Amino acid sequence: MAIQRTFSIIKPDATERNLTGAVNAVIEKAGLRIIGQRRIKMTREQAERFYDVHKERPFFGELVDFMTSGPVVVQVLEGENAVKAYRDVMGATNPTEAADGTIRKLFAKSIGENSVHGSDSEENAAIEIAQFFSLADIVG
Ligand code: CMP
Repeated sequence: MAIQRTFSIIKPDATERNLTGAVNAVIEKAGLRIIGQRRIKMTREQAERFYDVHKERPFFGELVDFMTSGPVVVQVLEGENAVKAYRDVMGATNPTEAADGTIRKLFAKSIGENSVHGSDSEENAAIEIAQFFSLADIVG
């Protein structure tokens, strides 16, 4: 199996409830390594650029408001098939549909305030990592 990297965000609903460590424990228990991590307050420009693919969606404004409402933790995760492995451990976007033991089932409040983001492909992971990390800040 291939060792991959993926990009993760611990969202404001989780940092607000002091859940960074609890989310990281689930990530590490799933066999993923946190090889880059920074706590930041996203600017509107950063959030709008990050979610550009969703800009025509009705929830875009709400999404940008939420992602800039408090601190987030941006992360680079590494492991076997990391993109899919992290999506599996995050669970479904809507927490009411997320499987038991997943981060969203454990912690998410709603489809919007759903605690974590993870890249949907290896190609997007590389783009998303490059938006928030320089190579010197990733130590595998
Ligand atoms: P994320 O993986 O960060 O990618 C896009 C985000 O849009 C998604 O997680 C959700 O948090 C958010 N989202 C998706 N659907 C809705 C919705 N119907 N209402 C509000 N936010 C949504």
